[in-house]
Amino acid sequence: MIDFNGKRALVFGVADKTSIAWGITNWIIKAGGTVVLAYQKKFRSRLYGLTKGVNGIEAIEECDVAFDEQVKDLFERVDGKFDMIVHAIGFAPGRALSKPLIYTNEEDFATAMIISSYSLQRIARHSMRSLNPNSAFLTLTYLGATAVVPGYRIMGTAKAALESLVRELSPILGAAGHRINAISAGPIRTLAASHVPGFDNILDYMEHTSPLRRNIDQEDVAKTAIFLLSNLASGITGQTIFVDAGFNIIGVPPDLDKLVS
Ligand SMILES: NC(=O)c1ccc[n+]([C@@H]2O[C@H](COP(=O)([O-])OP(=O)(O)OC[C@H]3O[C@@H](n4cnc5c(N)ncnc54)[C@H](O)[C@@H]3O)[C@@H](O)[C@H]2O)c1
Repeated sequence: MIDFNGKRALVFGVADKTSIAWGITNWIIKAGGTVVLAYQKKFRSRLYGLTKGVNGIEAIEECDVAFDEQVKDLFERVDGKFDMIVHAIGFAPGRALSKPLIYTNEEDFATAMIISSYSLQRIARHSMRSLNPNSAFLTLTYLGATAVVPGYRIMGTAKAALESLVRELSPILGAAGHRINAISAGPIRTLAASHVPGFDNILDYMEHTSPLRRNIDQEDVAKTAIFLLSNLASGITGQTIFVDAGFNIIGVPPDLDKLVS
């Protein structure tokens, strides 16, 4: 049903084969699209290894979203226009993730906000002349944006700002016919997730309490991602869609008796 033949995506956030962005990239290619990957310098050799011989990867381009010039340059040096932009980027300094939020200093707070939230605005701003009509943006968020998740710390605040940005940017991009949405993914073992204290416990708890009684994987996210990026979602913008086996709707877990006994 989803046909991306002739469509082109710019995907930010592939670090290795576990990356959510890599799952999305594979599904875009499977649907017939081509992809330019924008990666962070420290992952260069992994990216070269991962993408070698993969049909559908048009180019891999270095870009650190912490720097306005680098994002601007990226859009200037990559020829042609895009139909899809995927922002799958999150970062907070280890120092900020290792202590309760009240101890996060101004510099670490700003770093997390700039890389995890503001970079979406930065990318959208510099992309405007590089978009085909009716393009779609997608970003990745987490439940910690709207509920307390111990260990997620400053990232919860950054994701709350990101979800707000998705809403705020939607009428601006919508005036030019473009859409923007977020997927709020359940926990998945990735490089970024490995820095969240207590992550394994979160995986266990979700597996036992989500309506589907399982965790989700890259494929679950990628399938929703290509739907949101495609014309099938032509009437959806400014939304945060949960792909979390239903976990977010649970007030009291179904097996509470086992959990408290
Ligand atoms: N894994 C999970 O459990 C989970 C759940 C919900 C949402 N998410 C979100 O999904 C997105 C992708 O994360 P992931 O879990 O696939 O982990 P990941 O480590 O594979 O991806 C994070 C990416 O952010 C990139 N990045 C960080 N700082 C950057 C910078 N300054 N410039 C350019 N790129 C930078 C890294 O290079 C990496 O590719 C993140 O926004 C994350 O918060 C993850």
